[in-house]
Amino acid sequence: MVDRRPLIAGNWKMNFDHLRSIAFVQKLAWTLKDAKHSAAAVEVAVFPPFTDIRSVQTTIEADRLEFAFGGQDLSPFDSGAHTGDISGEFLAKLGCRYVIIGHSERRQDHHEDDALVTAKTLAAIKHGLVPVICVGETSEDLEKFGASAVPVGQLRTVLAELPKDADIVVAYEPVWAIGSGQAATPAQAQEVCAALRAVIAEVLGDDAAAATRVLYGGSVKSINIASFMREKDVDGALVGGASLDVEEFAKIVQFPKHVIA
Ligand code: PGA
Repeated sequence: MVDRRPLIAGNWKMNFDHLRSIAFVQKLAWTLKDAKHSAAAVEVAVFPPFTDIRSVQTTIEADRLEFAFGGQDLSPFDSGAHTGDISGEFLAKLGCRYVIIGHSERRQDHHEDDALVTAKTLAAIKHGLVPVICVGETSEDLEKFGASAVPVGQLRTVLAELPKDADIVVAYEPVWAIGSGQAATPAQAQEVCAALRAVIAEVLGDDAAAATRVLYGGSVKSINIASFMREKDVDGALVGGASLDVEEFAKIVQFPKHVIA
């Protein structure tokens, strides 16, 4: 049995300037230190806006904090005439371990399709970044096709192009649960995360499926995290709104201490 270290990832979206990002990371570090949090037990990652990443990097490195960080997107290209885009090479140089790819807000606001998500995933891998590949269904998809068909289809398209030994994280984020306060039930999350793991097994093999972390995202809070983490195929969470409040995010990170009624 492979031991998958849980990952709690804070997707800050377009929040916090670089000064606030420094204050946030420092306060998170003190809070978790006071609580005797073990980074070996639960990995913590933050995903600041691009303009904050250098500040987050220097804060983490200067204080030797055990947080990972990453970008919220990257270009499928390495360099060149792509105004406004950011290369995976630049993110890697800044010490990013991860990059979020295919978040539903990018799919919606920037019309990103599975082909572009695949190209971005390949770019991430090329530059040594671990892609956090986001998939999920809308409420219309849910009604028409059920919970797993669309996310499974999205993931299958990307996986088909990846090397068998690709180091990836998958995030199941039902679009209807994001920012709505209406999280999926733990049973729903488990059902889809298990289906996603089965596709990883089918395309990349059993070892990859056993080693890959599959996260749930969508209205995760300190009051519901433990019930998700109790599910066998849920290996962590991608947290949006609740990752902007230090106390709340620190409580989410400490889910192993929660007592579930
Ligand atoms: P939320 O966002 O936690 O605010 O629902 C999750 C996400 O979009 O990653």
